[in-house]
Amino acid sequence: MINIALPKGRLGEKVYKMFEDAGYGCPDIFTGRRLVFENKDAGVRYFWVKPSDVPIYVERGAADLGVAGRDILLEYEPNVYELKDLGTGICRMAVAAPKGFRDDSEYLLRVATKFVNIAQNFYSQAGRDIDIIKLNGSIEIAPLLGLSDVIVDLVETGTTLRENGLEVIEEIMEVSARLIANKSGYNFKSREINELLGRL
Ligand code: PRP
Repeated sequence: MINIALPKGRLGEKVYKMFEDAGYGCPDIFTGRRLVFENKDAGVRYFWVKPSDVPIYVERGAADLGVAGRDILLEYEPNVYELKDLGTGICRMAVAAPKGFRDDSEYLLRVATKFVNIAQNFYSQAGRDIDIIKLNGSIEIAPLLGLSDVIVDLVETGTTLRENGLEVIEEIMEVSARLIANKSGYNFKSREINELLGRL
């Protein structure tokens, strides 16, 4: 059995379809609230987990494979193999601010984000001191309420920014979904995993 941690949500569903098209489907995977599904004949077992937890399951070997965005891999730096860019879940990590915002380097910049390490690295390379405010979601609201000056967040269609009066002021990087593997799991199940990779 290959154990695969999928991120719950739109991205996970899209990626699951890729596995299904490759011959690794699992009947009933979208029904009910169960979190584990398996197809013994195809030799796969899927777990739906919170996206930021995928690297933890894979690094610790609870899953052999997992699907995680490049954002999550750079943020948590798990000790795993990155096997493949799945070419989906494409978006950008960017700095955004209220329209008309002008940075004044005399002041400490207040940055709200879920991605503390990515934001710290980005600003330390630019030599800018910042005050990081770690949030867990709905980041776009922080500058609206005066909690932060800017945000560092994912932008896909740009709708959330637009509808909240924000705009991108700097791009940090491109993001896409990656297939990752537990290091010993990959060595132990290399034949099965490489066959799956080939079919994907
Ligand atoms: C993500 C991201 C943005 C939004 C961007 O949030 O954090 O808020 O999607 O997408 P858009 O450019 O297409 O509008 P998510 O839906 O994951 O929820 P969150 O607020 O809990 O982070």
